Amino acid sequence: MENVLAIIKKRESIRAYNPARSVYVEERTRLEACMQEYCAGPLGNTVRFKLLDLGKVSRDELGRLGTYGVIRGASLYLLGAAPDCDGALEDLGYCMERIILESTALGLGTCWIAGTFRRSSFARQMGLAEGELLPAISPVGYAAAKKSVVEKLMKRGAGSRQRKPWSEIFFGPDGQTPLSGEEAGIYGDALEAVRLGPSALNSQPWRIIKDRAGHFHLYLRERRIYNRTLGKIRIQNIDVGIAMCHFSLVALEKGISGKWVREAQARQFTGLTYIAGWQADYL
Ligand SMILES: Cc1cc2nc3c(=O)[nH]c(=O)nc-3n(C[C@H](O)[C@H](O)[C@H](O)COP(=O)(O)O)c2cc1C
Repeated sequence: MENVLAIIKKRESIRAYNPARSVYVEERTRLEACMQEYCAGPLGNTVRFKLLDLGKVSRDELGRLGTYGVIRGASLYLLGAAPDCDGALEDLGYCMERIILESTALGLGTCWIAGTFRRSSFARQMGLAEGELLPAISPVGYAAAKKSVVEKLMKRGAGSRQRKPWSEIFFGPDGQTPLSGEEAGIYGDALEAVRLGPSALNSQPWRIIKDRAGHFHLYLRERRIYNRTLGKIRIQNIDVGIAMCHFSLVALEKGISGKWVREAQARQFTGLTYIAGWQADYL
């Protein structure tokens, strides 16, 4: 995938698909290869994907595979399963976003769906193992020529195209002073890629703090009531996994290789939950 930041800018949630166009075999094959390749998350969990073709599902079952009218015209869905373990939702966000960006690069529309779908029916199609969760799905297909009414309402309602400014999400060592573009240095584009990421209800819960030694640390500003409504599936933990994906892909493209790790001595800040720190191979 080339020019990741441009692909990140191009991606947007597509909720209305062209029912007359099914995804080309070449594109499906490429996605299937990605599903095999991107299944190990940075926090140590292995996740699993399936492409579900609604054309191959029995009539009875098809009636149960709903998205409450949110998605129109899609016949192919990417299903993402994760173990019920610490860090697995972040890992799912990380790996699935990689596949979503690849789909965008191929000219396909997608939409992260973690709330508005019949989870148990899709879980049956996924064939979940004991202890596995189905945190999210996404339609994959060609966008319809016109956006649906639901789509327009959701875009307006979630203020989808808006993102928080740098000053509200990236900070210096004290966790309060906004980080300037100059202080971001060669990580400027990686941070911008985090800022532009998709998140459930567009809540953008990621916060990044650069410490005195120049290391970046990722935190979650959790909206507890919202993040805990789906039981074990913490939607905002998926969001921060997406942020980790954007950061590392763009950093790598800038020639900065490294990885996200859970640091034993991470600093705690009031109101923020520590997620991981970026460990560059060369600083
Ligand atoms: C983890 C996650 C879960 C989401 N769940 C839903 C959902 O259940 N239904 C929906 O219509 N959109 C859902 N979205 C899409 C967001 O509303 C959308 O990404 C956000 O408003 C930003 O808009 P954009 O994707 O067009 O940039 C979800 C996004 C993420 C990242």
